[in-house]
Amino acid sequence: MKPVIYVTRKIPEKVLKPYRSHFDVRMWEAADEPVPRDVLLKEIQDADGLLCLLTEQIDRELLEHGEKLKIVANMAVGFDNVDVAAAKERGVMVTNTPDVLTDTTADLTFALLMAAARRIVEASEYIKSNAWENWSPYLLAGADVHHKTIGIVGMGRIGQAVAKRAKGFDMHVMYHARSRKPDAEREIGAVYKAFDELLAESDFVVCLVPLTNQTADLFNREAFRKMKNSAVFVNVSRGGTVDEDALYDALTKGEIRAAGLDVFKGEPIGAEHPLVQLDNVAALPHIGSASEETRSKMLTLCLDNVTAVFNGEKPLTPVSTQ
Ligand code: DGY
Repeated sequence: MKPVIYVTRKIPEKVLKPYRSHFDVRMWEAADEPVPRDVLLKEIQDADGLLCLLTEQIDRELLEHGEKLKIVANMAVGFDNVDVAAAKERGVMVTNTPDVLTDTTADLTFALLMAAARRIVEASEYIKSNAWENWSPYLLAGADVHHKTIGIVGMGRIGQAVAKRAKGFDMHVMYHARSRKPDAEREIGAVYKAFDELLAESDFVVCLVPLTNQTADLFNREAFRKMKNSAVFVNVSRGGTVDEDALYDALTKGEIRAAGLDVFKGEPIGAEHPLVQLDNVAALPHIGSASEETRSKMLTLCLDNVTAVFNGEKPLTPVSTQ
C-alpha cells in the first residue's frame, strides 16, 4: 500500500510524475480555486501526507481529522496558515519552502520598491487610459532610489538578498531583526538599527518579517507617523503585519509618500479595496515568488520533503520552530 498524499490544488503533471510511483496521489482538480473546507476535512481523513498552499488553514480541527497524517508540506516559506504547535502535539511534521524562492522574491521586492518610487504602475495606467498629451518636466515625477537609505525589517534570507540588490543601487542599507546578522553587516555593510530609528531614518521601509503574534500589526499608526513624509513603504511579507486603516490614513494624509504592496489582509481583495484605489499605491496579488521556475522548485521541494518523511529520513526543510 502506497502512502496517500492529498494535494490541495491542481499541480502540473510534469512536476508530479516522478513521485507517482511512490504515492497514491489525490488532488483537488479544479484549476486555480482553493479546495473547499468541507472537502479538505473529508480528504484529510485518508491522507498520510498533505501538500497544501497558503490558501488553506491547517488548524487544530483539520489536524484532528487527519488521524493518519505524518507530514504537512506547505508550499510557501511563510507558515502562518499552519498551527505548528497543534501539529507537533500530534507528531505531524511541518515543512516549508525556504531558499528556492529567495532570489525570486527579492527581485519582486525590489521591482515593487522601484515601481512605487518611480510611479511605474500609475504611469502605465496613464498611457493606457489615453491621458498622455504632452511631455512636461514633472510629469509623473517620482522619487529617486539610488543613493537613498533602505530600512529592511526582517533580515532573513530574503531580506539579505534585497540588501544585496540595494547595494547595486548604491543605497545605504539599514536593517532591524530579532538578532544581529554579522555576515550581512560584514559582507553587505548593512547597519543594525532599533525599529524606531530605522523608521525615522529610512527613505524606503521594507517589511519582510514572518507573520507571528509579535509582528501582527507591527506597522501601525505610530509606526507610520515615525516614518519620513517622503518614505515609501513596501510589504512583501503578509498583510497581517500592517494595520491597513493606519496605512490608508498615512498615505492619504501625506504622512508617507507611497506604498508597494504585494500582500493584504483577507486575500484575495478586489478593486474596491481602499488601498488599491489610491494612486500612490502599487498593488500586486501576492506574487512574490511567482516565477515559473521558482513555483516548480517550491512544489518539487514539498514533494521531496514528503518523500523523505516516508523514507524514514529527516525532511529537507522542516519549519524552523520544530
Ligand atoms: C511565501 O512563500 O511565503 C510566499 O508568500 C508565497 O509566495
